Amino acid sequence: MSSETSTLTVDNKPVDLAVKEGTIGPSVIDISKLYGQTGMFTYDPGFTSTASCESKITYIDGDKGVLLYRGYPIEQLAEHGDFLETCYLLLYGELPTAAQKADFDYRVTRHTMVHDQMNRFFTGFRRDAHPMAIMVACVGALSAFYHDSTDISDPHQRMVASMRMIAKMPTLAAMAYKYHVGQPFVYPQNDLDYTSNFLRMCFAVPAEEYKVNPVLSRALDRIFILHADHEQNASTSTVRLAGSSGANPFACIAAGIACLWGPAHGGANEAALKMLEEIGTPDRIPEYIAKAKDKNDPFRLMGFGHRVYKNYDPRARIMQKTTHEVLNELGIKDDPLLDVAVELEQIALKDEYFVEKKLYPNIDFYSGITLKAMGFPTSMFTVLFALARTVGWIAQWSEMIEDPSQRIGRPRQLYVGEPQRDYVTVAQRG
Ligand code: SDX
Repeated sequence: MSSETSTLTVDNKPVDLAVKEGTIGPSVIDISKLYGQTGMFTYDPGFTSTASCESKITYIDGDKGVLLYRGYPIEQLAEHGDFLETCYLLLYGELPTAAQKADFDYRVTRHTMVHDQMNRFFTGFRRDAHPMAIMVACVGALSAFYHDSTDISDPHQRMVASMRMIAKMPTLAAMAYKYHVGQPFVYPQNDLDYTSNFLRMCFAVPAEEYKVNPVLSRALDRIFILHADHEQNASTSTVRLAGSSGANPFACIAAGIACLWGPAHGGANEAALKMLEEIGTPDRIPEYIAKAKDKNDPFRLMGFGHRVYKNYDPRARIMQKTTHEVLNELGIKDDPLLDVAVELEQIALKDEYFVEKKLYPNIDFYSGITLKAMGFPTSMFTVLFALARTVGWIAQWSEMIEDPSQRIGRPRQLYVGEPQRDYVTVAQRG
């Protein structure tokens, strides 16, 4: 939707730029013709004020702490739905009817196995390889097995690749975990729901029957809903940029996984738990708060702060509730890490540094405590984030491919290097 224009003055000359309004949220000034009109670029490292695309998928109001998937509040989806329903919603734009949901579950379930030769990729890694390194490699390698779904111009192949990605991420994630702990791979069991299947592939052993705990399965399914999509975050922007060159979807998702791994992004859940373990007891919190505020100290409170949320991350609230649910179900009465986390949150939320900079807990602050209690090692936390975010990456990638105005992403720069100069032979150099 377009509306009025905005006028910029460059070299005393007015430049009219179209203003485009969205359904909700900030309007945008369309600068796509700015360089042609003025010979100048805009400059926005970190893209703090830049909209890279139009999207109908997810909306965040950072000031109000609102997160909508296709218009539905995250709180309602987490409360009433399941993860595959959220996948359907993100992919197709509407909540599924009962028949559509049954068909979608069936189609995803029928793609849960990976080619058995994928097992050989794992044996090349050391057992202590970080599972995220394994996931980057294995997801990228999927394109070697599925040449029949890498033609991105074919909507059917895009759909098949999407189903394959959503279905196989839990299997590969579970394989990465099993390889890490030195246990045999467990194949998917298709009479289980998506998240129960994943828990069984992670924690079942050939030596005995494994019964999925429905409370833990529901909690993890809800955690997947919370992580499913989040506008144009760093890893989603990576997937879009990789996809804009025509790269196959498996390679694009592998690029997204690599970006998510960073501690400033999806790696924060692993870093946040390590931080809580390092703090150890509530009496050491002031020392770490001081470090976080010290300009000369690179330390940051992991799981705190957000580029968009300048209010409490709505996912963190649901995450905190889920943490208590899981600890109660597991009979963990007093978790020292939770004591440190709750105390740290209370101190930080009153500290003027955090108040002034609007730093609140984000989704990564409580997730680690929950996942550790469920039995996952810290190194698996970001793998679980990637598992859940795959549907968001796929939905955003599909939206980008289907956008008629889509072209290869190619930002420009402000060059501050040497002006042109002539070659100097070695003999002439100082
Ligand atoms: C995710 O984008 C998404 O949507 C991401 C995500 C998703 O679902 O995809 O929500 C998932 O990545 C959540 C964020 C997880 N990361 C962390 O918890 C790591 C700790 N947080 C920070 O590194 C930081 O808050 C970021 C990276 C999350 C946001 O960085 P910004 O927007 O670039 O903010 P900034 O670094 O410019 O910080 C603004 C100010 C700075 O102080 P000044 O230079 O202005 O004096 O706040 C300070 C920062 O020093 N600050 C912190 C802090 N986060 C920001 N100080 C202490 N501890 C922190 N955690």
